[in-house]
Amino acid sequence: MTVSTIHLTRPETDVALLTLDHPERSANILSSAVLDELEERLNEVDGDTSVRGLVIISGKPGMFIAGADIREFAASFDMGEEKTIAASRRGQQLFMRLATARYVTVAAIDGICLGGGAELATWCDRRIMTTGPKTQLGFPEVKLGLFPGWGGTARVPRMIGLYNAIEMITGGESIDDQAAWKMGLADDIVSPELLLESAVRMVREEQQTKAYLADRQRWSAPLPGNDVEMGFLGVTASGYIRQQTKGQYPAPEAALETMLETAGMDIEQACEKEAETMASLFGSSVNRSLINVFLLTERNKKDGGVDGHYDAEAIDSVCVIGSGIMGAGIAAANVKRQVSVALADASDDALDAGIANVLEEVAYNRQTKSADPDRMLHYTRFLRRAADQWSGVDLVVEAIVENAEVKRQLYAKIEPQLDEQTILASNTSTIPITQLAAGLKRPENFCGLHFFNPVRRMKLVEVIRGEATSDETVARAVTHAKRIGKMPIVLRDGPGFLVNRLLFPYMNEAIQLVQNGVEIAHIDRVAKRFGMPMGPIELYDMVGLDTALYAGRVMLEAFPDRIVASPILPALVKRGWLGAKSGQGFYMHQGKRKRGRLQVNPEFQDIASQYVRPTDIPSDEQIESRLFVPMLLEATRVLEEELVRDPRDVDLGLIFGIGFPPFRGGLLHWADQVGADKLLADCETMQEIATRYQPTEMLSAMAKNGRQFYPK
Ligand code: NAI
Repeated sequence: MTVSTIHLTRPETDVALLTLDHPERSANILSSAVLDELEERLNEVDGDTSVRGLVIISGKPGMFIAGADIREFAASFDMGEEKTIAASRRGQQLFMRLATARYVTVAAIDGICLGGGAELATWCDRRIMTTGPKTQLGFPEVKLGLFPGWGGTARVPRMIGLYNAIEMITGGESIDDQAAWKMGLADDIVSPELLLESAVRMVREEQQTKAYLADRQRWSAPLPGNDVEMGFLGVTASGYIRQQTKGQYPAPEAALETMLETAGMDIEQACEKEAETMASLFGSSVNRSLINVFLLTERNKKDGGVDGHYDAEAIDSVCVIGSGIMGAGIAAANVKRQVSVALADASDDALDAGIANVLEEVAYNRQTKSADPDRMLHYTRFLRRAADQWSGVDLVVEAIVENAEVKRQLYAKIEPQLDEQTILASNTSTIPITQLAAGLKRPENFCGLHFFNPVRRMKLVEVIRGEATSDETVARAVTHAKRIGKMPIVLRDGPGFLVNRLLFPYMNEAIQLVQNGVEIAHIDRVAKRFGMPMGPIELYDMVGLDTALYAGRVMLEAFPDRIVASPILPALVKRGWLGAKSGQGFYMHQGKRKRGRLQVNPEFQDIASQYVRPTDIPSDEQIESRLFVPMLLEATRVLEEELVRDPRDVDLGLIFGIGFPPFRGGLLHWADQVGADKLLADCETMQEIATRYQPTEMLSAMAKNGRQFYPK
């Protein structure tokens, strides 16, 4: 049975009302079935000559329309140019009926109004937005490697001017009711309760003034403006976009070019051109990758972290022990979501500093770029110094020094004082969870909760199950991580867990390249050109060379066949060069960067020269393979060992844990695009250098059987 999403009613004799309300989904999505329904309903309305006004509204509070159906997009990537153009034209022509109808059309928007939903709303003659907390309007298509293709690039510039349209469409950020009103996208702002009533009133006003008819003419004609103005706007906007996208995301630039090119056309021609350009983006590699990232995050939102369903008991009170870099970040993430936090530290000075850091973070107002006393006051009540009072705490997160013995001593002291249900979690980045759980009375309540640095920016949290960790503990930890705005992935225990384990072969390989005589800045350049936010050598400096050395030893012990101990790191650490935190490492971190670039430590080459054994200098393509193929090989081992619950967690983990380039869709997604046979051939060539490139059984089998990580 097909479910109906759009209902036609008549709040007044001459006003038709279309209410969108998908009965089984929390969001209204414009799937092709819903577009079919819209067409049918518009036919009904058009057939009734008594209708003098149409209002489109949603039956879901806080949700007008979330956008087009992305899953449907993903299923039609291969439909080809002709069908893509036809799909775009179909949406344009359907929505254009709202701007050419016999009657006035009004979109009544409460809540989220995005993508295709925002296009539908802008094709209406008028828009009313509510003051509701979720109300926003935006065109986020560029974030999926596309642009608005149902007439958005044609209609929006004509309505709010090229400058505003370029900003909204190429930036992809949403605006609230006030900003929309200032731009002329919203014609009125009302409280949610008055929305329908105000929309009907607006219909009446327009029937009298007929102002909408003049706007219809204006918005279907070419845009006014001269070539000089247009040229200037084009150059500035394109320079800005290139700086942001580094040439790796083509959609914003395509949107800009389309809007500039079609500004002098009438709306019909502009729509035709939009559909043609849309076809060049749809199904492209970047579009597929970004839609994959979207689907990964959607899947993560629904995944409870355990098989079967758990009604995880809420965590309302958290204690964070260790108020250093990580502890303060974890405390702030909780406080920001209004979870009550007690912060503890062995050192009073460290605790003072930790409290100050948490308050500074939560008080920061992004709009004014300064501390906001009201926010500080609001959040202060969720933060306190821990007294020796453990009853009533739902979750204890330990973020103290990375030393198994010290951590275990702490657990022995506090565990007897915790409630039966309290979860104890460690933020350790290297120590196996099962090892830390030894000696606990309730190891089932213990797990790893590994946040990434800086906590405020990195969304990933690894939830690690020790051998005895219960499903309930995992489910509660996952639910809580989501509540504080994170993306949790659940892993089995193992050295380096997931992200650090995959990072190590890559970092290790970078040092080997240095020893082969490749310049450090060049290695970083190749990695950044691949799309990494920073190169592996710069990353060493950011992590801290002492920390990297320590973690490297853990990995070496676990995987002696494929991690090579390099003498370079200990040599730098011995000189006190610890990277960014000491001002000097591979690069210099004091003073200003030159043209945004870090300067190589001038003394580094002297040290490195003792260890460099120059070989034939590899090409950029070979450097890229040497960095990323070992990472991929390690990922296949992780999959062989079933360390993750789903292969897609590998991609999610790397994108949100270390910033693996989203336009590549994740490591496994990238590997599928390169092809298992090509990767296997790379391994075989590199095997001449060292045995660590030996292909895994999984990769060999995939190449042989033509299989992919993501099913075709
Ligand atoms: P940090 O050195 O900034 O802070 C540790 C704090 O713990 C210090 O304030 C110290 O006074 C306190 N402390 C030490 N022993 C204690 C004890 N017995 N009882 C109470 N407090 C004690 O360290 P950071 O970087 O915040 O690391 C903490 C944990 O998080 C470590 O396990 C580390 O491996 C892990 N981690 C660190 C990341 C990083 O990038 N720094 C990333 C992810 C995890």
